[in-house]
Amino acid sequence: MHIVMTGATSGIGREAALRLAAMPDVRLTIGARSPDAVPPLLADKATVLPLDLADLDSARAFADELAGPVDALIGNAGIQLTRPMQSVQGYELTFATNHLAHYLLLRLLEPVLAPDARVVLTASGVHDPAMKTGMPAPRHARAEWLAHPERDLQRDPSPGTAGRRAYASSKLCNLMTVLEAARRWADRPGLSLMAFDPGFVPGTGLARAYPAPLAWMFRRVLPLVVRGRGVSRAPISGAALAALATAPQYGSGRGVYWSMDNRVPIDRTPSSLAQDRAAAAALWDDSATMVGLAA
Ligand SMILES: NC(=O)c1ccc[n+]([C@@H]2O[C@H](COP(=O)([O-])OP(=O)(O)OC[C@H]3O[C@@H](n4cnc5c(N)ncnc54)[C@H](OP(=O)(O)O)[C@@H]3O)[C@@H](O)[C@H]2O)c1
Repeated sequence: MHIVMTGATSGIGREAALRLAAMPDVRLTIGARSPDAVPPLLADKATVLPLDLADLDSARAFADELAGPVDALIGNAGIQLTRPMQSVQGYELTFATNHLAHYLLLRLLEPVLAPDARVVLTASGVHDPAMKTGMPAPRHARAEWLAHPERDLQRDPSPGTAGRRAYASSKLCNLMTVLEAARRWADRPGLSLMAFDPGFVPGTGLARAYPAPLAWMFRRVLPLVVRGRGVSRAPISGAALAALATAPQYGSGRGVYWSMDNRVPIDRTPSSLAQDRAAAAALWDDSATMVGLAA
């Protein structure tokens, strides 16, 4: 079983990758922007290829290296910034990294996905305003405004709020991509297409762009003090992510949103924003234009 994965060097993805690499029938290919960041335990058992999701050319080169069939694609890498920044191609960096590059990988790898392959994109409960996560909720999934926030008349004046809303919006895009792929690829009924909300998982590297005291709190203190149904830990959510890609009970989902609840993934209804079919179709088409593909 050949599994291709992003975001395996740290946090939730690292935990998932360690479990996948230990499975006797799994051949794991990891895309990483710093291959040196791949833990030795993983580097010994996986193929590591260069991949910088902030650069669409790098995503293309990564996809070119991959021979099929691919049995599972796990798009787990993600960043959260404290201000809007730009990708190599000039798109807002969070949107480009978390959404556009994974969208491009999905599109480029679709032809080499095995008939019964699984796709899992790591999304987040922050995509859903009703979850009241404390993050600024997405207002829309308009690719043009997310890629060029200066064109959005409702843009946030505070860089911090803008950075965090960009993150929540990118996670909405991950979920909508999965839902839209399930609609568009009716001719590929064997594919399982899933989005995964790992819960709130303090202790990972996700807050690394924050000022040092906040990043330290997220990494070291919050895991000790935060509890609740929606709170998880990297080993638990990592194990769930590995299971979504491999375990028989998750093998037949078309556009399913798995969300951690009390340490297990449940099939949760996506937000009403995520269920907006016209918006998802537009996101798909506009993203295709941005990455240089036909819709
Ligand atoms: N932690 C949470 O509370 C939480 C909640 C909901 C969803 N999530 C999602 O879970 C996923 C994993 O996050 P995490 O919390 O485990 O954070 P993490 O420890 O920071 O892991 C992020 C991963 O993404 C990779 N990455 C970032 N930018 C990249 C780029 N330009 N090119 C290639 N790889 C890149 C990182 O690689 P490097 O080693 O090169 O940095 C790392 O492997 C993300 O999609 C995140 O949005 C997390």
